[in-house]
Amino acid sequence: MNGTTPRTNHTTTELRVRRGGSGDPERHDVYRVPYEEGMSVLDALVWVRAHVDSSLAFHYGCVNANACKTCMALVDGQVAYLCTARLAPEGARVEPLPKRPLIRDLVTDTVPDDEKL
Ligand code: FES
Repeated sequence: MNGTTPRTNHTTTELRVRRGGSGDPERHDVYRVPYEEGMSVLDALVWVRAHVDSSLAFHYGCVNANACKTCMALVDGQVAYLCTARLAPEGARVEPLPKRPLIRDLVTDTVPDDEKL
């Protein structure tokens, strides 16, 4: 021991996530996730999918480079990139983009109509 406090005392926070597909009744699932200062909302969603609920659907491509632009959603009512939106200590409410066709959970159809095959 070198006299410093080890970083082992994680706290937790809540993630409230809109679930379901188009036409399903509105439902939000609440997940308790480990919280560390500076973590992204995407970090918390990835943790949920890996440890709690593998059925949770969301898009991401570049993790935190903000290059792929596939992780857009609403975080506490504001359009945000999940990979760059910092999770607040008090948690977050995460919902799909409201003006895009909902596929499932946080996944919306973001492909422009003229680019669809
Ligand atoms: S994961 Fe690529 S921009 Fe967010």
